[in-house]
Amino acid sequence: MRTRLGAFLFTFAIFIVLASCEVVIKQKLDHGFLADLILHAPKSLHGWRVHVLFSTPVNKIDIWDAHVVQSLNNGREFVIANKNYNKDLRSGETIKMEIEAHTSIHALPTASLYFEGFQTSGQPTTASLSSHVTTTPMTSHHGGGNNKYNYTKLLGDSILFYEAQRSGKLPTDNRIPWRGDSALGDKGDHGEDLTGGWYDAGDHIKFNFPMGASVTLLTWGLLKFKDAYVTSDQLDHMYSCIKWPLDYFLKCWEPTRQELYVQVGKGKIDHDVFGRAEDMTMPRPAYKVTAAHPGSDVAGQMAAAMAAGAIAFETKDKAYATKLLTAAKSLYEFAKAHHGKYSDSVTDAKEFYGSSGFRDELALAAVWLFKASKESQYLQEAEQYVATDTAWALDWDDKGVAAQMLLYEVTKDNKYSGMVEDFLKDFMPGGTVQYTPCGLVFRDKWGPFSYAANAAMLALIAAEDGLHPDSYRAWAEGQIAYMLGNNKYHMSFVVGYGSKYPLHVHHAGSTCPNPPATCDWGTFDSPAPNAHVLYGALVGGPDGQDNYKDVRNDYIHNEVACDYNAGFQSAVAGLLHLQHRNQLPAPSLHGCT
Ligand SMILES: *[C@@H]1O[C@H](CO)[C@@H](O)[C@H](O)[C@H]1NC(C)=O
Repeated sequence: MRTRLGAFLFTFAIFIVLASCEVVIKQKLDHGFLADLILHAPKSLHGWRVHVLFSTPVNKIDIWDAHVVQSLNNGREFVIANKNYNKDLRSGETIKMEIEAHTSIHALPTASLYFEGFQTSGQPTTASLSSHVTTTPMTSHHGGGNNKYNYTKLLGDSILFYEAQRSGKLPTDNRIPWRGDSALGDKGDHGEDLTGGWYDAGDHIKFNFPMGASVTLLTWGLLKFKDAYVTSDQLDHMYSCIKWPLDYFLKCWEPTRQELYVQVGKGKIDHDVFGRAEDMTMPRPAYKVTAAHPGSDVAGQMAAAMAAGAIAFETKDKAYATKLLTAAKSLYEFAKAHHGKYSDSVTDAKEFYGSSGFRDELALAAVWLFKASKESQYLQEAEQYVATDTAWALDWDDKGVAAQMLLYEVTKDNKYSGMVEDFLKDFMPGGTVQYTPCGLVFRDKWGPFSYAANAAMLALIAAEDGLHPDSYRAWAEGQIAYMLGNNKYHMSFVVGYGSKYPLHVHHAGSTCPNPPATCDWGTFDSPAPNAHVLYGALVGGPDGQDNYKDVRNDYIHNEVACDYNAGFQSAVAGLLHLQHRNQLPAPSLHGCT
């Protein structure tokens, strides 16, 4: 009882602090007005951005104590950022700054402001001269099918999310200030170095099966929409992004011993602790597959990732590409020689990422190996392994439709394009897959966004290969638009994007304040927002009725994961590629009224 009451009071206190930010319009001028911005820091801040909103357009604002970063919504919204001397604010601290606004409209507007990342919910209120108001911004510049989403920022931020997931010794160019070295003791049965790779989701286990699926989708998107990474100045970051798990995969595969490590960290042990990766002291056992305890699915998936990586690095780092291709080839042979589902061999993986089969991964590995090596035996084998039926989804477990798409690319055989078309027919309106009332395709309650985003990525690739470009692109754009703002909350479901986004994602690292502050289950239970903005992370998604709550303990809808972001990032790259070519269609999504 006491805990619950405490939590309630805490929430209430936060609301009061938020509610007292205000804009006081104090004097009318010939072509504008003077106003005071009164800022109450919602928590301790080291650098901040504030959105100032006006009911009618303002041409320009002059302000001494902050930088004007951006003007949005035709002058109805200005983003201002701290100057160096006022970047640090204590929790609850109040500062006042004067602005001069220039406007061509005679009547005075009403105005409000909020700290980026800290707005409350509620209806906008109107105000008259000198009244004190706080409102919730309507994210009209991010809502409703106007192609105004900033795909450049989303691409860069998604790469940042993967940087935040890094395990092992971080390089000196690490861009996540709250991350440090972690899990430096990860090792195999013979003392092999297994440091590196990505933490899976909100926890700190390294699951190679979904990690492999993620890096393969990311690399496919890079190869297909490379121009998007170039124009957004993200190409080098993207190479580092995919290299991180690929380096780790090279450590996990030991061709001489014929052993493949596929997981580090144990579900129960890891999930009993809530804290920073940097502080972990629990045992982190490593799990492997062998000839006697096979896992042709995870081996095939990791081989596919390395073969795709070999193509990506061909022009960037030839020696590295060769190393990847050599490892991919021997790993694929190992996968072919010892058939079996890895989650039958590594039972700890079963309840998290249990595999449904391995033929799809063998087909995927074979087709990527063919693309990387041009050796025809791989193509023949891919055609033997590939499923001819319609896949249930494209996800961390099921890659059948990805193999079908790639086989269409290399053979141009209509049999394969037909399979991709059947798959997308199921996912598009009128198909067999359910939709939410607001128009999100809803394959599963776990990570509905990842299913929608992966299908959107596939649709954009299919369109690029000449299949129904108009309808596939419009549909894909509509699904991504739902995630970015065209939904019943008018919010972005990507952390750090837009003016309203999830603040309590289920993710230990970003929840924990910087040390030496304690971080434990008490921190987890607190209603306070996550201490750090986990830029670029896409949450699982709403329920089948579009309902979503931004609460930390909802790991079904509000967790983030490497595999949630992969197809999403590649779809965003695809949309940016189209935007540059002026080929971005109007999104098809009926949205919410
Ligand atoms: C989009 O985001 C990028 C990167 O954050 C930024 O440089 C650019 O100004 C943004 N564009 C718009 C139109 O807001």
